Amino acid sequence: MTWIAIGTVSDIPSRGARCVVTPQGKIAVFRTADDQVFAIDDRCPHKGGPLSQGIVHGAAVTCPLHNWVISLETGKALGADEGSVRTIPVKVEGEMLFIALKALASKAA
Ligand code: FES
Repeated sequence: MTWIAIGTVSDIPSRGARCVVTPQGKIAVFRTADDQVFAIDDRCPHKGGPLSQGIVHGAAVTCPLHNWVISLETGKALGADEGSVRTIPVKVEGEMLFIALKALASKAA
């Protein structure tokens, strides 16, 4: 696992998100009203909507396309809908934010 610095908590608007493009796809990093930070794939499990453009409420985001509600903590769709997105570990050190990416597979023996 590799930690990648992605800026500071204050770079993310409160109840908003920022996208980080990584070798493992586009990741949406959210900040809740109480300043918790969560990272999930920026891809709705329904039809791939951009979750980073959704509305954050509590620790969940509503997809801007068809209003599925996705838990930022578990990546699972809430309510009657079924599906989930990958969640990515986040850590905060001082003001700096890091997300964890799995080290790229290496074939070197
Ligand atoms: S693509 Fe997100 S609810 Fe349909």
